[in-house]
Amino acid sequence: MQTKRIKLDVNDSNGWDMTEAIEIIRNGGLVAFPTETVYGLGGDAKNSEASKKIYEAKGRPSDNPLIVHIHDFSELEEIAMEVPEDARVLNQAFWPGPLTMIVKKNEVIPLTTTGGLDTVAIRMPSHPIARTFLTESNVMIAAPSANTSGRPSPTVADHVWEDLNGKIDCLIDGGSSDIGLESTIVDLSEGIPTILRPGFINKEMLEKALGKEVRIDPGILDQNAGKNIRPKAPGMRYKHYAPKGNLIIVEGQEDKVVSEINKLEKEAKKEGKKTGIIFTNEDKDKYSADVLFAIGNRDDEDSIARNLYAILRECDSKGIDAIFSESFNTPRIGQAIMNRLLKAAGHQVIDIE
Ligand code: TXA
Ligand code: MG
Repeated sequence: MQTKRIKLDVNDSNGWDMTEAIEIIRNGGLVAFPTETVYGLGGDAKNSEASKKIYEAKGRPSDNPLIVHIHDFSELEEIAMEVPEDARVLNQAFWPGPLTMIVKKNEVIPLTTTGGLDTVAIRMPSHPIARTFLTESNVMIAAPSANTSGRPSPTVADHVWEDLNGKIDCLIDGGSSDIGLESTIVDLSEGIPTILRPGFINKEMLEKALGKEVRIDPGILDQNAGKNIRPKAPGMRYKHYAPKGNLIIVEGQEDKVVSEINKLEKEAKKEGKKTGIIFTNEDKDKYSADVLFAIGNRDDEDSIARNLYAILRECDSKGIDAIFSESFNTPRIGQAIMNRLLKAAGHQVIDIE
């Protein structure tokens, strides 16, 4: 199949022509589009055939449910069995934005879209192109991240093109994603609101808005890695985001981290490996390796989040065998960043306190 690529300037909404993309999505085709978190691979959420195509294009197991993207809260009301009060509060506080809510579903969204579950994940994105696409098509769009299953999520259109050219009908290129990590997922379908995937909107922000305790799914906590605790979100159970090279995270006091990483890099080089190091800008003169990746300033955690996936992809495209990374436990989104980085590293961490 020929993939049609449409370029839209995010700052010039008057120039947007989405007619073709809208036509495709209404007819059960697939359109990848930008959101503020990562690019999504969209199909009509009410159309089982479209959902099947999504799973196929991504090479994704069909028991891993999709997120339904909406542009108005009334659409949540249309597809939820009941609307929890917490959903109304979080809608006021964070939508449109990088938050996904899980609620019990009625029969409007087919089980193909929800991977057979009786709950549905719903998100109202804030990206202006995504919002216009959702509003003008008036279709609820099921969209996982627009990567091949197992690769890092795409934060620019070229990443989508790399993975899905020829497998989808259309790609809307709207520049780079602002946040660069997938949305926070909060489960409102039973008891205490529970974070199933950390993201830009963290536990404290949710607790402040709701005025009550929010839990974190024990299955996603780093200290439980390797134990037999299953994450509740099916997608968090799969091996994810792993670059082809071996990635090791080194944690601890700054000077010690630098010398340990340099030592490991030299050893790897001696074994004939191509090496790469991921670090914050402050440390850029302290390392040597075949490829150096400055991820952003340590005090600018948004830039660290935004650049992570592009760097992991570059590790693959440059054929790096041994990758060493500093750890980025920043105050606000550090948990989300480290959740992704630790997965990419298969939880290989050297702690040198
Ligand atoms: O930021 C995002 O959320 C992006 C953009 C495109 O919106 N989408 C995204 O989708 O990251 P995806 O499919 O790559 O990740 C969705 C995650 C998976 O881990 C899936 O298992 C989980 O959400 N999920 C979806 N529906 C669920 C449900 N009903 N119960 C539990 N987990 C669910
Ligand atoms: Mg994904």
